[in-house]
Amino acid sequence: MAEPSPQEPATTSTNNVAANVEVDTSYENDSAYGDELSSYSASLTSSVLDYRHENGRRYHKYRDGSYLLPNDESESDRLDMLHELCLMVLHRKLYLAPIKKPQRVIDLATGTGLWAIDFADEHPGSEVIGCDLSPIQPSLVPPNVKFLVDDIESDWAYESNPFDFIHARNLTVSIKDVGKLIKECYRSVKPGGWVEFQDWDGYPTSEDGSLNDTKLQLFYNEVYGAFEDAGYEVRPGPKLEQWFKDAGFVNIHVEKFAIPYGVWPKDPHFKNLGAWMQAQAEASGFEGYALAALTRHKQWTAEEVTVLASQARADGRKRDIHMIFNFYVVYGQRPEN
Ligand SMILES: C[S@@+](CC[C@H](N)C(=O)[O-])C[C@H]1O[C@@H](n2cnc3c(N)ncnc32)[C@H](O)[C@@H]1O
Repeated sequence: MAEPSPQEPATTSTNNVAANVEVDTSYENDSAYGDELSSYSASLTSSVLDYRHENGRRYHKYRDGSYLLPNDESESDRLDMLHELCLMVLHRKLYLAPIKKPQRVIDLATGTGLWAIDFADEHPGSEVIGCDLSPIQPSLVPPNVKFLVDDIESDWAYESNPFDFIHARNLTVSIKDVGKLIKECYRSVKPGGWVEFQDWDGYPTSEDGSLNDTKLQLFYNEVYGAFEDAGYEVRPGPKLEQWFKDAGFVNIHVEKFAIPYGVWPKDPHFKNLGAWMQAQAEASGFEGYALAALTRHKQWTAEEVTVLASQARADGRKRDIHMIFNFYVVYGQRPEN
């Protein structure tokens, strides 16, 4: 991809591959359906590791309560699957921005750190930082990766030592003010450097209306309603472009991808994406996504959450519910001057 000139207007290009996912009606013969599903530099003090345990799940301790998804083994499995899903969506690319030999790189809210580790392997000349509230990254990593426990919603101290490339992915329901975070990225990336966000519109849809009035739809409405009431951003994807413009980025590029849930699509690529989407959602359980949001912020009991989660999971396995999520990749460049 050619590097555009920094003088170009903010938005240069948009691709949308989100339309018309055709349903596979030959699934009676699709016997594979079952098979498809079948060194910290800072602050690893005991207070960071003294995790919160609640309703059978484990949560981060640093900035206790600020992130509502678990950080236990099942959630780490889910994040690893999500990493694979994102690579499949981008045809094995870790990023789309036209970066060239970046020296300093940061992956914000790195989770299990697989993006940072893969990036460091691909770019041995880069120094890569992955930061997160939870120290859940592996310890055997390439020598050019460092993981930090850090809160990306607090003030940053990177302006005096800025980055060549800042990456953030899958922050839906994680962050309250993504627009502010993107402005912080602008301040902390070098002139001419790039920032890329990859994120979702959390609310699912269906092209044929088959999601309407299902327990699956009810699940997302209830859970995202709770996150929204608590102030979290649940549909950052479609807003990224405007936030990049507001922050001052140029050469902004937007890509939109449709990601089905389940193996109902006819097209093998979409069928594969759908299988991984379902596998990652079931890895941590629908409960994992919903428990803290609904029990801490909506006064649901854990039992009530479990019932809705199992109904949603069952709906998600139905071939006649054609749920789709939209995923966005947006990158932009800080002007040279
Ligand atoms: C859904 S995971 C995504 C992980 C990773 N970016 C990926 O794509 O696999 C969201 C991550 O954001 C982290 N997180 C949430 N709020 C944060 C904050 N304020 N500062 C740093 N990390 C945060 C969580 O601990 C979690 O690991």
